[in-house]
Amino acid sequence: MIKLSNGRQIPLDMHKVKIIQRLPFPTVGQRLKAIEEAGFNTFLLRTRDIFLDMLTDSGTNAQSDHQLAASMESDDAYAGSESFYKLADAVRDVFGMEYTLPVHQGRAAEHIIAKALVKPGHIVPMNQHFTTTKAHFVLQGATVEEICTDEAFKTDSSCLFKGNLDLDKLENLIATHGADKIPFIRMESTANLLGGQPFSMANLKAVKAIADKHNIPIIIDTSLIGDNAYMIKKREAGYENTSIADIVKEIVGMADLVYMSARKSCTSRGGLIATGKKELYKIMAPLIPVYEGFLTYGGISTREIESMAVGLREMTDEYTAGCAADLIEYFVGRLLEKGVPMVTPAGGVGAHVDASRFIPNVAHEQYPAGALAAAIFICSGVRGMERGTISMDRDVDGKELISEIELVRLAVPRRVFTMSHIEYAVDRIAWLYEHRDMIGGLTFDYEPEMLRFFIGRLKPIAAGGASENWPQELAQAFIKDFSDQA
Ligand SMILES: Cc1ncc(COP(=O)(O)O)c(C=O)c1O
Repeated sequence: MIKLSNGRQIPLDMHKVKIIQRLPFPTVGQRLKAIEEAGFNTFLLRTRDIFLDMLTDSGTNAQSDHQLAASMESDDAYAGSESFYKLADAVRDVFGMEYTLPVHQGRAAEHIIAKALVKPGHIVPMNQHFTTTKAHFVLQGATVEEICTDEAFKTDSSCLFKGNLDLDKLENLIATHGADKIPFIRMESTANLLGGQPFSMANLKAVKAIADKHNIPIIIDTSLIGDNAYMIKKREAGYENTSIADIVKEIVGMADLVYMSARKSCTSRGGLIATGKKELYKIMAPLIPVYEGFLTYGGISTREIESMAVGLREMTDEYTAGCAADLIEYFVGRLLEKGVPMVTPAGGVGAHVDASRFIPNVAHEQYPAGALAAAIFICSGVRGMERGTISMDRDVDGKELISEIELVRLAVPRRVFTMSHIEYAVDRIAWLYEHRDMIGGLTFDYEPEMLRFFIGRLKPIAAGGASENWPQELAQAFIKDFSDQA
């Protein structure tokens, strides 16, 4: 952030644009048709119908010139590729871990970890689940226990570390089930489903002390560790003058194993598992050729391995590490100025709109976050993602699992959007907030059993005073105010 002469703080991009991609700007009529054809699921939209794609930061970040240059130098060998050894060096330098296993993306790492360490009847405590993590652990017959603090579910909060694990809940869980039922404790660096919220170093140290007492390993999902480290530097007393690189090392130093989706932070493909423990490496390494590819390419091209190696180092570059988090903070701040209910404090990944406070009369079972994501798309061409009850699957008896929080995530991929994009999104979402009574609910038309949010199809229903034709009525109201976009 940089302070202007009028006192206002703005995020400052520490890069310039070298390559561009032309954006479509569909009319509201085209957007309405597109979301109808997509079964009101923003995952099923086509890029040609989207103005600003804020679905995710996974695989959508802009790469640096150094990353692209490195990928041209890749060594295309099936086995023994020099590109892999550059990645292993980067992991050693950035994480201080000796053993690296490349995988094709984050969930592939979760798959390998689940196969290697998670058994039927196991309990896996974590600060918050991530959808694919939970799916892999549950498929192994385990139960996932999300034991974040109660504050994490307060969307309107000033708590700086809502990604913290609740230490009492952890002690109780261990006392209830016994340490032998707990294969590891998982910490997610910036908890995605809580709105990209970080954990503090103090909390991680306390978790580690409990884990050590009971001889339970710690696994950290480091997909967004750079952002978590940046927020520790900005928010936690005693770390103001510590480098991001040293904070990252200190975090990882407390883990027995880390894994990540490199797509989220440091390149557009790939992921990895890293550990300093030979015994863990020996359990997992044989699974890589079975499910991913040979140990030196892990299911991705060596170009991507090269780019991942450079991206990992860039993640801790003091000069650029905070750019994404600062832009998100600005985005959240501007929406708050317009009165839009947001998750506060701003976290990583993107800006998170609180759908429960945006449309309080639409019940969880009527999927307010899914409906709001569709409404935002109709009014702006901005594609966000539902992170609420739709993103929870039903339980084994088919009962709806209600999410504690109903969020629409507006992801801010790194180095992709400009201030004009952010200001446009703010303006249209603010308009929608003024017309929020027009938003109804959704119900499933086609509902897959697992990870239904990806490919499920929905249809509008009357809810909260809006009719079942709410998308069409909303588009009509929009045309009245913005006739140039009809
Ligand atoms: C925290 C976290 N872990 C794991 C994953 C899964 O990674 P991928 O999408 O690369 O499979 C994601 C994806 O968004 C994530 O946010």
